[in-house]
Amino acid sequence: MIVVTGGSGKAGRACMADLMEHGYDVVSVDVAKPTDLDVPHTVADVTDFGQTMAALAGIDERTSDVTGVVHLAAIPAPGLAPNHVTFATNTVSTYNVFEAARRLGIRNVVWASSETVLGLPFDVPPPYVPVDEEYPGRPESAYSLSKLLGEQMAEQFCRWEPEMKIIGLRLSNVMLPDDYARFPGFQDDPALRKWNLWGYIDARDAAQAIRLALESEITGAEVFVIANADTVMQAPNDKLLDAVFPDVPRRRDVGVHDTLLAIDKARRVLGYEPRYGWREER
Ligand SMILES: NC(=O)c1ccc[n+]([C@@H]2O[C@H](COP(=O)([O-])OP(=O)(O)OC[C@H]3O[C@@H](n4cnc5c(N)ncnc54)[C@H](O)[C@@H]3O)[C@@H](O)[C@H]2O)c1
Repeated sequence: MIVVTGGSGKAGRACMADLMEHGYDVVSVDVAKPTDLDVPHTVADVTDFGQTMAALAGIDERTSDVTGVVHLAAIPAPGLAPNHVTFATNTVSTYNVFEAARRLGIRNVVWASSETVLGLPFDVPPPYVPVDEEYPGRPESAYSLSKLLGEQMAEQFCRWEPEMKIIGLRLSNVMLPDDYARFPGFQDDPALRKWNLWGYIDARDAAQAIRLALESEITGAEVFVIANADTVMQAPNDKLLDAVFPDVPRRRDVGVHDTLLAIDKARRVLGYEPRYGWREER
């Protein structure tokens, strides 16, 4: 059975639907009420270690034999709560999930880091494009700092427990199909979405990445940038970069609409291949 924290959320619902479609037993853990999906739901606050331990241990026979955890519960962006609340919520909940998993012998953990650790909103330009996992984190907000600390905690937990796998997915901006109606409004101003290099991730492709990460046989702490294969823009990349980041080195040729949030590592290591895209859905 796979426990999904934050199961009531945008990514959590898509993740649970995808896991169920692929034959997994899933249980949702969230402070909020359940979704419309037919999954057992446990109301628990993962900032509380006791509740996290109890939820991951399995509340009763409905939620026993937990073999993996997908940790998505968080305050999911800067500015939604006072910074210290975002920092404390996200840092402590991630610690609690890692520690509860470790104590319970659950070695398979996938969690949502964030594209923000790449240096969003790029008021300081990125070191190069496409951005990837190869340069040190550059958090610019308490939210992003909480995610970077989660990545660093994962490394230490995996040093303590070399058999553990803790995969952090640096998700881009999560979109549901209805969100694509907003995309025409992005087109006139290249600066409007420069904050994440014009990237996005369809919740269903995020779910695919989560499932592939759960199924991956690697051990240790790893991070992957997870975005869709294209940008949110009709304008070609060269034109966007000339307008907004003229001095940022372009490390390689990219296709006119190819993502500037490199997903090469996820493709290579996880076998991730995005299936959705706003151009087809409109
Ligand atoms: N939405 C994005 O664009 C985006 C981008 C990158 C990373 N992420 C990360 O992905 C994850 C999921 O994001 P989302 O967009 O689905 O957010 P969301 O707000 O839709 O879902 C988060 C869920 O977590 C729950 N939650 C919050 N605090 C909790 C707690 N203490 N205990 C239990 N449940 C709690 C909420 O009730 C909510 O249902 C988050 O970790 C977020 O930081 C999101």
